[in-house]
Amino acid sequence: MSEPAPIASSAASPAQAQAPAPGPGAAAAPGADATPLLELRGIAAGYGSMQVLWDIDLSVAAGECVVILGANGAGKSTLLRVALGLVPAMQGSVWLRGEDVSQLRTDRRVARGIGFMTEVGVFPELSVRENLLLGAYRLGAKQARANLERTYAAFPLTAQFRSRPAGSLSGGQRKLVGVAKVLMGDPSLVVMDEPSSGLSPVAVHEVVEVLRGVEQSDVSLLIAEQNTAFLGLAQRAIVIEGGHRRFEGTVDALRDDAALKRAYFGIE
Ligand SMILES: Nc1ncnc2c1ncn2[C@@H]1O[C@H](COP(=O)(O)OP(=O)(O)OP(=O)(O)O)[C@@H](O)[C@H]1O
Ligand SMILES: [Mg+2]
Repeated sequence: MSEPAPIASSAASPAQAQAPAPGPGAAAAPGADATPLLELRGIAAGYGSMQVLWDIDLSVAAGECVVILGANGAGKSTLLRVALGLVPAMQGSVWLRGEDVSQLRTDRRVARGIGFMTEVGVFPELSVRENLLLGAYRLGAKQARANLERTYAAFPLTAQFRSRPAGSLSGGQRKLVGVAKVLMGDPSLVVMDEPSSGLSPVAVHEVVEVLRGVEQSDVSLLIAEQNTAFLGLAQRAIVIEGGHRRFEGTVDALRDDAALKRAYFGIE
């Protein structure tokens, strides 16, 4: 079995290979006064009778990257699951391009252009190629094949290791395959749960660079993270503490907030 290659070498240029994002709002500049791609309004959610989120508002514009920052157990994953329809909201609503999708099943939301990358990101027992094809499950066979070739070209590592079980790759390489897999579905918004989890600082940096390429291809990003390295990609951030939204604003404003700076950047 060959040694895992560094993932950076495979981060060629997803921007060039990525198909243009579909949808009428896709060309709007970040911050433009357009209907958000995704909007969460007044979300409350929990598990059984245990509430873990209270009154959370969040929006992602076309072409924008928004980071949800919060400590362990803050409620980041739960909020993403509500956006995808994997956890029902107790209160509030979820909107995609101005359409209330609160009652839509997850697969219908995916069909409207949301891709979800979980913390694991891949099915470890399946080959890289099988993982990639699963990412295109809702597309026709011809489109899936075309997207596969596009992905092999944009992320050479996926071509090199196409026959290997995803679980045999390094943590960083698995994340890269996870990113490539979600892009196989031609999403206009990629929702990611802690892409840094389990990665070394070097691998985190490499994943950030891969995502920079994704961002340049006009795919919007919503990233839940504890790692502030991802703020470098974002125009805006929200901070969740104990299920409540503590901050919403630009990344610059977040860096200027003394209390949050202490909490998240370790600086007095
Ligand atoms: N499936 C579940 N059943 C019951 N409680 C859950 C479930 N998933 C999460 N919780 C609880 O909900 C709260 C928020 O968890 P969540 O996973 O959303 O936080 P998080 O911010 O993603 O944390 P982490 O950074 O550790 O991933 C926590 O108290 C957690 O224990
Ligand atoms: Mg989580």
